[in-house]
Amino acid sequence: MSVPKLRQLATWGRLESHQREIAAIHLRQLFADEPDRGTRYSLEAAGVYLDYSKNRVTAKTLDLLVQLAEESGLRSRIDAMFSGEKINVTERRAVLHVALRAPRGQQIFVDGKDVVPGVHAVLEKMAAFAGQIRSGAWKGHTGKPIKNVVNIGIGGSDLGPVMAYEALRDYSQRSLTCRFVSNVDGSDVAEATRDLDPAETLFIVSSKTFTTIETLTNAHTARAWCVQALGDERAVARHFVAVSTNAAEVAKFGIDTANMFGFWDWVGGRYSVDSAIGLSLMIAVGPENFRQMLNGFHEMDEHFRTAPFARNLPVILGLLGVWYNNFFGAETLAVLPYDHYLGRLSAYLQQLDMESNGKQVDLAGNRVDYSTGPIVWGTPGTNGQHAYYQLIHQGTKLIPCDFIGFCQTLNPLGRHHDLLMANFFAQTEALAFGKTEADVRADGVPDFQVPHRIFAGNHPSNTLLLERLTPEALGRLVALYEHKVFVQGTIWQINSFDQWGVELGKVLAGRITPELESPGAPPPAHDSSTNALIRRYRRLKGGAG
Ligand code: F6P
Repeated sequence: MSVPKLRQLATWGRLESHQREIAAIHLRQLFADEPDRGTRYSLEAAGVYLDYSKNRVTAKTLDLLVQLAEESGLRSRIDAMFSGEKINVTERRAVLHVALRAPRGQQIFVDGKDVVPGVHAVLEKMAAFAGQIRSGAWKGHTGKPIKNVVNIGIGGSDLGPVMAYEALRDYSQRSLTCRFVSNVDGSDVAEATRDLDPAETLFIVSSKTFTTIETLTNAHTARAWCVQALGDERAVARHFVAVSTNAAEVAKFGIDTANMFGFWDWVGGRYSVDSAIGLSLMIAVGPENFRQMLNGFHEMDEHFRTAPFARNLPVILGLLGVWYNNFFGAETLAVLPYDHYLGRLSAYLQQLDMESNGKQVDLAGNRVDYSTGPIVWGTPGTNGQHAYYQLIHQGTKLIPCDFIGFCQTLNPLGRHHDLLMANFFAQTEALAFGKTEADVRADGVPDFQVPHRIFAGNHPSNTLLLERLTPEALGRLVALYEHKVFVQGTIWQINSFDQWGVELGKVLAGRITPELESPGAPPPAHDSSTNALIRRYRRLKGGAG
């Protein structure tokens, strides 16, 4: 279906005038007008409860936003994605992360071939290998069992596994140490390996393309460290496995392709945590927990695919994001998980959202005349409260927030969880309702402090409340954000599945590298700033001063 340009859609103009009507209405007023707002504007599906009542919306706003989704052709885009159409138009690829968690027997076709049996074959191979590592049956070159697993990858080949490993650490086999190396800065691999015994260490080189300079540099360094310590090139076969789509490059590196775990070009890097890229995670938590996580993903996929838009979690979250991004001029989204295990979630969501929707041209290649993906950031509560929440509460910027919390803790220790959750609830309340001048004065605050102690409130937030951080819950949560990003990309008429914006820096770095490495390199020939910086670096890099 062909869709008119976004700002020409009938609903767009209606949303603009509606925004002008309600922009000045405070959340205090909205709650006074609708006393049952807290339950009316809430949704529960696939084990996730979303309270979106503390948003600057009315029933009319939601109707219009849902209409916008319909006019944008969201329904047919969802169907196209789930049925394996090549919706990644610039790379001419299908986008089928949903196939990675499709149950056995479901059929999804790409170029006339059902891809689901292949997915399950890889999962079985991963499970067999994970079982061998976990039981100690897989022996290193000297006959010792593996105790340490180091994933080497970057971007989607790192952020997904490390985020999910941290999230599910409570379910991990504690006799295994898992580490993640991503940065090309040598300090990363040096620190990750310095206290490990190479004879007990397995490296998983994770790279979809197997050409990424950071990953290959780290993998070669790890290989040299291992071979030097074990005194034999043949050690590579017992201490290195690969996850990739590129068997030729894997073989060139010296890894037996029998020890390669494959995936497919229809899995985007940032959508790959539940593919073989999650091998380190599966080794850590075991195949059964990994399967449970896939079930959680699938549950959310089914909800997204089938639920009406007005009752659809990813659709509602996506539309609320569009509302603030495009009609209130908000530039950012804070994702604030109140769970220590979700310490890497925001970093993961940064790639998911910003690499997907950080685009300036539409699907046809025309420059867009509206704002696209937000800046995503955040850290787990309550740490942020003692750092940057000041700006959210009293600064001049509008920062919509997603709060994520769990009713049960994995570590019931005294009062900790109730204290954590008291803060969780208090923050959304304070953000929404603030504290008026009258309240401040009623507290007996001296005059000179009054303006400083007023909280304007009216800051919007979503609250996602789940029962417990289980593997299923993690799967549901990640799938929720994956689909939310897709909803927004659809509304903005952009391709959420390519990432050409990362290319230029890579090419220029490739050009500069020999200028730094070769002692006799000619003077740099860039702009005057880059030249001066390179000259200075060359002069000082030896450390002699
Ligand atoms: O940053 C660009 C990117 O292509 C990401 O999209 C991807 O997740 C990452 O690099 C790593 O790529 P690969 O898995 O091919 O090494």
